[in-house]
Amino acid sequence: MPAGPLRGTIRVPGDKSISHRAVMLGALAIGETRVTGLLEGEDVMATAAAMRQMGAGAAKHADGWRIHGVGVGGLLQPAMALEMGNSGTSTRLLMGLLASHAITAAFTGDASLSRRPMGRVIEPLSRIGASFTPSPGGTLPLMMTGAPVPVPIEYRLPVASAQVKSAVLLAGLNTAGITTVIEPVATRDHSERMLRGFGAELEVEELDGERIIRVRGEADLTPQTIEVPGDPSSAAFFIVAATLIEGSDLTIENVGLNPTRAGLIDVLRQMGASIEELNAREVGGEPVADLRVRHAALSCIAVDPALAPSMIDEFPVLFVAAALAQGRTVTRGLDELRVKESDRLAVMAAALTAAGARVEETADGLIIDGTGGEPLRGTANARVKTHLDHRIAMSLAIAGLASQAGVEIDDTRPIDTSFPGFIPLIEGLRHSS
Ligand code: S3P
Repeated sequence: MPAGPLRGTIRVPGDKSISHRAVMLGALAIGETRVTGLLEGEDVMATAAAMRQMGAGAAKHADGWRIHGVGVGGLLQPAMALEMGNSGTSTRLLMGLLASHAITAAFTGDASLSRRPMGRVIEPLSRIGASFTPSPGGTLPLMMTGAPVPVPIEYRLPVASAQVKSAVLLAGLNTAGITTVIEPVATRDHSERMLRGFGAELEVEELDGERIIRVRGEADLTPQTIEVPGDPSSAAFFIVAATLIEGSDLTIENVGLNPTRAGLIDVLRQMGASIEELNAREVGGEPVADLRVRHAALSCIAVDPALAPSMIDEFPVLFVAAALAQGRTVTRGLDELRVKESDRLAVMAAALTAAGARVEETADGLIIDGTGGEPLRGTANARVKTHLDHRIAMSLAIAGLASQAGVEIDDTRPIDTSFPGFIPLIEGLRHSS
């Protein structure tokens, strides 16, 4: 039987992207940065451990996290390999930071991270003067040595990637002169917002539809007090669940609504979802609101590929919504999904098909024929594979709520990389209704 209605008020953990950046920039500001709402998932903890290995302090106290920074240029040579676990953001942003520090470091990761392409950061960071010895295919494990005299570059992003943009900007912090990144397509701008917040000289110019971002190097960062808003990518699972399950009326408090992250909400609204923004305000330099989501019937959509960067992590759960919508949903231009924690097009196509959805995988997207609101069949005796991908695991948990037989997944552990407490939260909602 599909789950009963989701009702009540919840909060989701802090934003993963903002949490990584708070720890990294705090570690580069001389003095104490205080952070509340930090996501304590494994990915952010990998960043914190790495910063400690390089001389910074990062510790949890009763009133939040305190980061003791060493100053731009002050990172120390780590004595052991930097263990990045599942976290692409930790890896690529830290490679950027280290690229302009004359230290040598090894990066290692789990099986998922060790398959992901690092050439996209190695290429610009080599131009700055860093050198790299990656594994075949440009992957982890890898060794790198930062440039003793880093050179400022102007870099036009060949892929829409906030991680690549941020890696170059972070390298620019300890590089004399102006480092420039040109973004033909806007991606999440948390690095720019937070760099400014810490006092870096950073300018953004919009020219012919492109964003030109310039940061002045040898920056002096000033410690900050940061409140991390709730992660819209974590809220996404509950937004979709409440939309799909009849009788639901769920409020998710304190959700970050930075426009470079809020694409899913636009798309779901276009499909007919009822998502109300209450108590709009600003938290930690980011727009935030409480979201009230009520059940609504969804209709299909052709998702505008231009929206992809603003909802890049939300496609797995959008595919679940599409599987229960009325009609045929078409997505394309999503090649990047193939190099996330798993190949999210192939993995979601296989998993949703196993759960009874009608899905066709194309080279760069999925075509999904929805049930028109009828619950999916579910997976009965088969366990679907999540391939060490937290967002696949959580998306399939939502598909399970909206199915007759439930969806059984092979591994729930990766959920802790971004959303500790997801399963108890969902169980609590199911049982309180
Ligand atoms: C992130 C950027 C995105 C996103 C990831 C977090 C970030 O990756 O998928 O979960 O914090 O900068 P890409 O830059 O590879 O698109």
